[in-house]
Amino acid sequence: MTPRDRAYVGGEWIATDRRFAVTDPATGEHLADVSDADAALTRQAVDAAADAWPAWRAKTAHERAGVVRRLRALHAEREDELARLLTREQGKPLAEARGEIRYAASFYEFFAEEALRPHGETIPSPFPGHRLLTFRQPIGVGAAITPWNFPSAMIARKLAPALAAGCTFVLKPSELTPLSALALAALCEEAGVPKGVVNVVPTSEAAPVGEVLTGDARVRALSFTGSTAVGKRLYRACADTVKKVSLELGGNAPFLVFDDADLDAAADGLMVAKLRNGGQTCVAANRILVQRSVHDAFVERVAARLRGVRVGPGLEEGVALGPLVNRPSFDKVAGHVDDARAKGATLHLGGSAHELGRTFYAPTLLTGVTTEMRMANEETFGPALGVMAFDTEEEAIALANDTPAGLAAYFYARDVGRVFRVAEALEVGMVGVGTGLVSTAVAPFGGVKESGLGREGSRHGMEEWTEVKYVCLGP
Ligand code: SIN
Repeated sequence: MTPRDRAYVGGEWIATDRRFAVTDPATGEHLADVSDADAALTRQAVDAAADAWPAWRAKTAHERAGVVRRLRALHAEREDELARLLTREQGKPLAEARGEIRYAASFYEFFAEEALRPHGETIPSPFPGHRLLTFRQPIGVGAAITPWNFPSAMIARKLAPALAAGCTFVLKPSELTPLSALALAALCEEAGVPKGVVNVVPTSEAAPVGEVLTGDARVRALSFTGSTAVGKRLYRACADTVKKVSLELGGNAPFLVFDDADLDAAADGLMVAKLRNGGQTCVAANRILVQRSVHDAFVERVAARLRGVRVGPGLEEGVALGPLVNRPSFDKVAGHVDDARAKGATLHLGGSAHELGRTFYAPTLLTGVTTEMRMANEETFGPALGVMAFDTEEEAIALANDTPAGLAAYFYARDVGRVFRVAEALEVGMVGVGTGLVSTAVAPFGGVKESGLGREGSRHGMEEWTEVKYVCLGP
């Protein structure tokens, strides 16, 4: 697939004087120079989305569902090309990139169906002769700011419900992975999305573009996936125009292993929860809490699995762990490991750059991690696992909840009473019990506390892009 390298605004591919480079993190190869949108081009994108809205919202739900369904079909048809592009700009192994394209397609599939279901209500009236009704209506122009870790799926999770609901859309993808977003714009053209309904403004300078998206009163909803620090800034910036805000922010997921767990299943689950996308997910297991009586047996199983992980460029056959996306990500992982070791953690495996160099980091396992260490308090976002021991269920829950984040948590236990007690006590939006993967288009994804606002995926995902209107019909 020849990468598209221009902004997509009002159905036109727009070249700008200023451009920015996109590189392959595994090889450093230059992939493209992409148009660098500024505030003026972003305003043009909002103009286009605002102009396109009346006609798009006026289409029947069945017509909009048809367009979203075509996007699903195009993802299936082009899976291989889209996955290769994704691996090249992001670094994840090709099998995972294929999985991501299927994950993206599943949002188009699910929301093509949901387009038909934003049902209203009739409410028994307390006033004689009146009729009370509600409608669900599209919110208007929506904006999305999406991350580099899932360059296709995180767009799909926002765009599919927005289109299904009848909203138009302005997207600012991550500057590290704009090519997948621009490939999607090309698919939108092919799927028959009318001009101006979807606009993509890649940029290397997020601030001026973000200021337009948060400050323009015509943008009625902003959906962001990314760091908590940036999410807080966007939330504040949206206050002046009182936008609907959906925030999927950072996590610090605990992964608990109780003494009644199946330790092999737990070790397998941890590989998924920790190593998916090289640990670069906001739902990645970040604090591994293991009951003391099974600690050593579990650590042994994890070490054996980590030793078998093949590290390399994502396009190479059999690779399970690619490079970190860039140097700051590498430095963060290395910093967490060095900090833990300096504060007394024990290194079992890895602990340094991988021999492949660049931003490859060796799968790393530490025990004796404590709450004073950085890796217990910040997302590591990489393949370094830090294990802490606990004695009682109460202590485990207290440790798990001892963070401002509340996105995902995982635990392994077999006692059914414990399963319900722990699942209910964890302060998070999503809990995996006996599994290391909770993400799916059909279930609500989102966090509590400082991990965000709103839910994506599932029928709740439509609520982010619609508003309830109440109509009171007099006698
Ligand atoms: C994320 O890391 O932002 C989302 C990952 C997922 O959908 O599982």
